[in-house]
Amino acid sequence: MIKFEMPELKIGDLIAKIPIIQGGMGVGISLAGLASAVANEGAIGVISSVGIGMVKKRKTADDKNANLEGLREEIQLTRSKTKGIIGLNVMVALTDFLELVQIGFEEQVDIIFMGAGLPISFPQEMVDKYFFNSKTKLGVIVSSERATNLILKTWEKKFNRLPDIVVVEGPKAGGHLGFKKEQIFDNDYSLEVILPKVIEEVKSFEERLNIKIPVIAGGGVYTGEDIYNIMKLGASGVQMGTRFVATEECDATDEFKQHYVDCQEDDIVIIQSPVGLPGRALNNDFLKGVKAGVKTPFKCPWKCLKTCDYTKSPYCIAIALTNARWGLLSHGFAFCGSNAYRVDKIVTVKQLIEELKEGFYKAVQNYGDLAVPATN
Ligand SMILES: Cc1cc2nc3c(=O)[nH]c(=O)nc-3n(C[C@H](O)[C@H](O)[C@H](O)COP(=O)(O)O)c2cc1C
Repeated sequence: MIKFEMPELKIGDLIAKIPIIQGGMGVGISLAGLASAVANEGAIGVISSVGIGMVKKRKTADDKNANLEGLREEIQLTRSKTKGIIGLNVMVALTDFLELVQIGFEEQVDIIFMGAGLPISFPQEMVDKYFFNSKTKLGVIVSSERATNLILKTWEKKFNRLPDIVVVEGPKAGGHLGFKKEQIFDNDYSLEVILPKVIEEVKSFEERLNIKIPVIAGGGVYTGEDIYNIMKLGASGVQMGTRFVATEECDATDEFKQHYVDCQEDDIVIIQSPVGLPGRALNNDFLKGVKAGVKTPFKCPWKCLKTCDYTKSPYCIAIALTNARWGLLSHGFAFCGSNAYRVDKIVTVKQLIEELKEGFYKAVQNYGDLAVPATN
């Protein structure tokens, strides 16, 4: 039998053997354990920067320095565990967004992915120091061709440089979603519909400027065949979150992972998050209480999110997600993708990647090209 390999993912001079990005997952779900395991398999492992101080240092949300120090340590720890490609996910909606990005540059992560907001404002000093002379690539996460156009146009004009990679996240993803509530289940906004539009948008910049910007797609990608189908639509790779939660190496507690294994399809709900965006999560008594008007009082000495009105929010999302991460699910809740109910066991990252490769090759055999013959 001919052996095939998945196409490599090329981001400038950076090459991932497996075209899969493990999406950054806060709070404390994708840290050094998961990111290094994924990177060791030849895919791209991503550390989530959000709430890292609360998880690592067991500090409350009032300690901003714990967050910054925690992130630096986590990047160094990840590096000590892998020679593979590691990324950092930073939410634009965070008040310490720029400080976290700065740490990513200083620690020379391979890629910084910026999402949950429009990453279009950077201090000139940061642009001069890192946008051209750093080995760190820059990625943006978008959910529409409009946002893609706005970001690319702004970057070209203001920074004379474009992002190195664009990740399109569709409405089936886990965590915060870049869609209005009514768009989430509308087929006009499905990943299969928005992906070609984003690719088209990016292409217009690529052709005019004679550059290459890979477009990656995520949100609901579950099997190797899903990867094949999305790549057939023109994506250079995929971003996956939910499947990586259900791995031994994932940095969440066993209780959090078991919550995925135990859930049913109708446990997966859309919530309105204090971040100001809808989010997909696993329903539980905590969320049912929030819906019924229960308030969980909290102090907010350090406003970690630009978009959170903590005076009106019935709970602190950073505390709720941290509690869930530690397995205290009655005091918080877990984000998840729309396919979380399909998770039936916890596997190693190696087993997961093998399964995805196999599913991809089967799809190649059934439907045609895409994979390249193995060289050895
Ligand atoms: C538990 C969880 C936490 C997440 N946290 C973040 C985050 O902090 N920042 C972010 O950009 N995306 C976040 N995401 C989205 C993932 O990075 C990924 O893009 C998405 O889950 C892909 O969809 P899938 O879960 O269907 O594979 C999160 C997803 C999950 C499941």
